Amino acid sequence: MENFQYCNPVRIVFGKGQIAALPELIPAGSKILMTYGGGSIFKNGVYDQVKTALQNYEIVEFGGIEPNPQYSTLMKAVDIVKKEGITFLLAVGGGSTLDGTKFIAAASKFQGEDPWDILEKGTPVEDALPLASVITLPATGSEMNAFSVVSRKEKDEKLAFYSTKVFPQFAIIDPQTTFSLPPRQTANGIVDTFVHVMEQYITHPVDAALQDRQCEAIILTLIDESPKIMANPNDYNARANLFWAATQALNGWLNVGTAQCWATHGIGHEITAQTGTDHARTLALVLPALWKHQRKEKGDKLVQFGKRVWGINGDDKEKIIDETIDATKKFFESVGIKASCAEYGVTDDVCRAVAKMIGDRNAKLGDLGNIGEKEVYEILQLCD
Ligand code: NZQ
Ligand code: ZN
Repeated sequence: MENFQYCNPVRIVFGKGQIAALPELIPAGSKILMTYGGGSIFKNGVYDQVKTALQNYEIVEFGGIEPNPQYSTLMKAVDIVKKEGITFLLAVGGGSTLDGTKFIAAASKFQGEDPWDILEKGTPVEDALPLASVITLPATGSEMNAFSVVSRKEKDEKLAFYSTKVFPQFAIIDPQTTFSLPPRQTANGIVDTFVHVMEQYITHPVDAALQDRQCEAIILTLIDESPKIMANPNDYNARANLFWAATQALNGWLNVGTAQCWATHGIGHEITAQTGTDHARTLALVLPALWKHQRKEKGDKLVQFGKRVWGINGDDKEKIIDETIDATKKFFESVGIKASCAEYGVTDDVCRAVAKMIGDRNAKLGDLGNIGEKEVYEILQLCD
């Protein structure tokens, strides 16, 4: 195991009816910017619950944050923050609303010329407004991490930043708020969670025994709970189990002292930037192909995964790897997500553009830093 430090300051407030706890969590007298997406919170009652809980606060609302939140939209919110003297940001909705709000928090205090530098140049975030979240979609883990992913259409770019300044102060997770998710978004969340675990698990071996078992526990939970939710979207316990699995998959517990890959995400983000394909669907497309390409480097962990999670037996390493890849694809299909270039408009032109974007940044992806422009194009050729 590698050396590590770990600190996660996010207070999790989990369970039925917990939105009512908001006044205990936000300092009295705060002037709140309440951010949200395209309107799901009006249909499922979350908006009303938040407004009722916060009736003694001054609130300015900012809606319309898109899935894959757009820089131009978020900068409009930054103007409002400055004009209105906002002191606290509350993101109500999915990971895009929360990621966007993290960027608003950092951009509002940015001292340089253009806050896009935080994403493009990696300019450190020196200060940020305090923020928190009522999260309504189990997928990104954004509720308990300090990452944010922001897109900019004019440049065909989708970039991430990390700063401990944008850890949410708290996250309210009421699994009942997820009953209203359409099957497509539920499935996206399951696959995103699955791939977050894989990015931290299917690497070269580093002998981190507990972290491996934690990864396997999350995947086994997904395998158990997903069919229950697909069959009965109002199954509270299954929804609760899925949400906690999604949060833990990307709150930093799995990768302390270990290697991390993130190449599937690196390639997937570029595919979304080029085609608009949902984040999770790009991951389902790329992951099996990446494993085929990196079967030598990732072979030992793929075999461990196949044996411990999919119950594959035998001594033929190559056969076990193939069966592990097939079992993973079948799991994605079981929640309705296909790994198919044709389905997502990933043409040869898109593959070349994706590889070039990564090449232009001189990026070397993967836990071994061995995936550059050439390898990205080769991986995309291996996609179905
Ligand atoms: O916009 P509204 O109307 O709220 O509807 C949303 C949106 O259309 C809807 N939705 C959310 N909660 C709902 C609901 N509909 C009904 N009932 C509910 N309870 O779902 C749609 C998708 O929402 P979005 O927030 O885009 O999904 P998700 O949470 O999957 O976030 C995706 C974004 O997060 C980034 C992705 O790249 C993408 O931009 N990621 C962020 C990460 C992080 N911060 O750590 C890591 C991830 O790997 C990922 O890259
Ligand atoms: Zn993801």
